[in-house]
Amino acid sequence: MRYPHLLFIPILLAACATEQAYDPLADYEEVQAVTILDAPAAAPGRYAPIDRDRVARGEYLVELLGCGACHTEGALAGVPDMSLSLAGSGIGIAYSNPLGTEFPGVVYPPNITPDDETGIGLWSDQQLANAIRAGIGRHGSRRIATMPWQGYAKLSDDDVEAIVSYLKSLEPVLRQVPADVEPGQRASEPFVYFGVYRSR
Ligand code: HEC
Repeated sequence: MRYPHLLFIPILLAACATEQAYDPLADYEEVQAVTILDAPAAAPGRYAPIDRDRVARGEYLVELLGCGACHTEGALAGVPDMSLSLAGSGIGIAYSNPLGTEFPGVVYPPNITPDDETGIGLWSDQQLANAIRAGIGRHGSRRIATMPWQGYAKLSDDDVEAIVSYLKSLEPVLRQVPADVEPGQRASEPFVYFGVYRSR
């Protein structure tokens, strides 16, 4: 065919004609979250010398298990701000259908540095272990599927204790993530979406 590009003209016209139609993806863009993150170093003086190996193992496990991929600012969109490593994400994760007419519910991965007010500073070791291995919230509520605790459920007691020791040894960062958004409410901060649907 001599002018194959002419074939595109009707397609473009059709696209213009339907301009007003509702496009559920109009407000979304593709993200390339390809970053591999180092875990931040524990702060000297926040752990006893005798715990050094355990804290180092915790750091290794947090890198291996990819906690920073959600709990670090910008990481969900592939642009992590390492000065806020593990201090929570202003980019949320949608957990209900964003392709319907309603706005999806969104959770923001919280600050998991040991700040008392905005992080995990006041969580007990047991509460943290329950959050990591069983997805249970601090006050006993079962979590939704966005935190991939199923992948951490088989961590040994030693390993989960190492993660908890490491998190508690971090420099606390004062930083509040945005409040969770209920399905149907418009989120004022950005979010990404992981597939949670299946065919019948
Ligand atoms: C896929 C994203 C993702 C990854 C990876 C992830 N988390 Fe989370 N995490 C979340 C979200 C979202 C929440 C909040 C869930 C909620 O409130 O319902 C959360 C909650 C938590 C909490 C409870 C804190 C609080 O204030 O509610 C802890 C502790 C935690 N995560 C630790 C970890 C650790 C440690 C790892 C790695 C072993 C990890 N997370 C990996 C998304 C993630």
